[in-house]
Amino acid sequence: MVTREDQVLLSLEQALSARISSEEVKRWLRDYAIPFHELMAYYRCAMMKVETKFRILNENISLASDSNHIESIKTRLKSPMGIIDKMIRYGQPITVNGIEESLHDVAGVRVICSFVSDIYLLAEALLAQDDVKLIERKDYIMNPKQSGYRSLHLIIETPIYLQDKKKYMKVEVQLRTLAMDTWASLEHKIRYKKSHEALSEEADRELMECAEICAELDMRMERVMSSSSRMKEEGR
Ligand code: GTP
Ligand code: MG
Repeated sequence: MVTREDQVLLSLEQALSARISSEEVKRWLRDYAIPFHELMAYYRCAMMKVETKFRILNENISLASDSNHIESIKTRLKSPMGIIDKMIRYGQPITVNGIEESLHDVAGVRVICSFVSDIYLLAEALLAQDDVKLIERKDYIMNPKQSGYRSLHLIIETPIYLQDKKKYMKVEVQLRTLAMDTWASLEHKIRYKKSHEALSEEADRELMECAEICAELDMRMERVMSSSSRMKEEGR
């Protein structure tokens, strides 16, 4: 039977083989295979913890407002290939400690919210927790990327409790609305379909305009939601 550990090691070996000599791969696996596997397990624990934090917040906030604030949550662990490529891009030696220190997005949690206001509500509630430390915040909703990309990105650090120790782990959290997520998924597909060739200026402009239409949709949905909840409160 192929275990999860075998699969991780196989894809790690493939990632390394494409980039360093077979002698170096052997040495790397001898020195780092076990610590790498452990580190990935710690990142999985940290993702589980952060996902649970959002599920608890959703339950709790929904009690007061009688509606869900989160549409869905996705978690992903960066692949060995993605990790090695990024370390090479950063010009860092590929060691397990180096990966932990240099990369902030090995563990990713994406929270798809109903409305823009839910994004800020959930982010503030998460950051107010005792065991969550903010490392970096990038607000691509207030300041969209040149591509038109919108989301709120947080790099946080939180402890996981292991059998005999407490370990602080970094997690990248991306909060976005359904409209922002739809745009980002399709834009990614369109942009990377052409295997990293640049898109035409016209296609870039179209994508940017689509992002603005999504932002307009979010704003109008938020307005409808606020005015209908005001009417409900006033008993109209
Ligand atoms: P990298 O992590 O190397 O990408 O650089 P960075 O740390 O400066 O990244 P940033 O925080 O700006 O964005 C990281 C992630 O956000 C990416 O891995 C994507 O998931 C998402 N993202 C950022 N920009 C875009 C974009 O223009 N289009 C799409 N579809 N996703 C984006
Ligand atoms: Mg990043």
